[in-house]
Amino acid sequence: METTSSSKPESLPAARSGVQPEPFDVLIIGAGAAGLMCAIEAGKRGLKVLVLDHAKKPAEKIRISGGGRCNFTNIHAAPENYISQNPRFCVSALRRYRPQDFINLVDRYQIKWHEKTLGQLFCDNSSQDIIGMLFRECERAGVAIITSSEIDEISHKDELFRLTTSRGPYACRKLVVACGGPSIPKMGASNFGYRIARQFGLKVIEPRPGLVPLTFSGPLKEKLAALSGVSQEVEVRFGKVKFREALLFTHRGLSGPAILQISSYWREGEPLRLNLLPDHDLFALLKDAKEATPKQELITVLTDHLPRRLAQFIVEETGVDGRLADLSHKKLQAVAAMVNDWQVLPNGTEGYRTAEVTVGGVDTDELSSKTFEAKKVPGLYFIGEVVDVTGHLGGYNFQWAWASGHACGQLI
Ligand code: FDA
Repeated sequence: METTSSSKPESLPAARSGVQPEPFDVLIIGAGAAGLMCAIEAGKRGLKVLVLDHAKKPAEKIRISGGGRCNFTNIHAAPENYISQNPRFCVSALRRYRPQDFINLVDRYQIKWHEKTLGQLFCDNSSQDIIGMLFRECERAGVAIITSSEIDEISHKDELFRLTTSRGPYACRKLVVACGGPSIPKMGASNFGYRIARQFGLKVIEPRPGLVPLTFSGPLKEKLAALSGVSQEVEVRFGKVKFREALLFTHRGLSGPAILQISSYWREGEPLRLNLLPDHDLFALLKDAKEATPKQELITVLTDHLPRRLAQFIVEETGVDGRLADLSHKKLQAVAAMVNDWQVLPNGTEGYRTAEVTVGGVDTDELSSKTFEAKKVPGLYFIGEVVDVTGHLGGYNFQWAWASGHACGQLI
């Protein structure tokens, strides 16, 4: 799709021709989840709204999300599921627009969905259903969307923002920055939002990749690679934060929901703690087994609870092997320590290439938590992932995009 025309298509040719255009009431940069939701709400209020996106197709991240089925919300979404320098910033928007509000919209479009696990709602069919719904809503609200539009410059004078773009000049009274973070650049992601923030003197919390696999170096990298494909439910901890979900060994290091979740908190140079058997005190279990079946091999007990390749790895790493009867408590404790409290030191992450989100972004101190308007620059707004609010894995990021877009669109 190149251009989605609207019920107000007359604004487009003028804007393209290079003639000084009539200002839009609201111009939104970024036709992603937050930008489209904001456009719909602003358009429904009768405002003249234009959405510009540099990508060929809007909403690409929605399309690829949730393995193509879009985990569009989480019924448990609450401020605790979000990372920000100001954990209270997200409260107002999340309260104004709840998961049920988005479910109601999805239901109005008769889009079939299901709860997969942990409150995560997915489309039965395809994420295209959500995209189609948002486009239809934009159309009904008279929103114009122009794609393949590179923005070169933004200026602000006499209460008007003026944009020079590859599609010609545009002007608007209110400018909404909804261009997300730099995660997955090949999907059109960029750091343009931060550049706009800095241009207008707003602080940006140093961004970093989040919800991203962790990588390792040296001998551990090779050992983990040998476990590639093994998966195990674990509890992973970093400081006071912990998650209990699946861990997946890959040829690059560690992945799976547990690792993606903790990666948003993890800081370089610091270890993670993994409990590979969160339901068992392995030392107690081994002691009992030693008493009951002393001739049993350690590896046999371990493979009762862990995938064989992982059990073998633990035996090799600890150097403890053989019949339980021949193993001292100290040795059993060493094995148990590795299983119940294994400390691993990643050397980095896979970076923005595979990160599902960006942690950090426009400093929330700079914005109104109600309207998302920049306190220093009346008329300039930031919503969605470009803001320093990052959700956990499981539909929380889209809920933030919908909620921040909705609040801004209603109050702009
Ligand atoms: P989003 O990134 O969606 O949109 C930004 C838009 O701005 C894009 O269309 C982009 O082209 C445009 N843009 C960027 N730079 C521009 C520029 N210079 N000029 C003009 N336009 C520009 N979340 C979730 O809750 N459930 C899920 O299932 C998933 N799954 C998932 C899978 C994968 C692979 C990824 C990468 C991410 C997810 N996410 C997710 C995260 C979710 O996609 C993300 O948090 C939201 O899309 C953020 O919405 P925004 O509208 O803020 O940015």
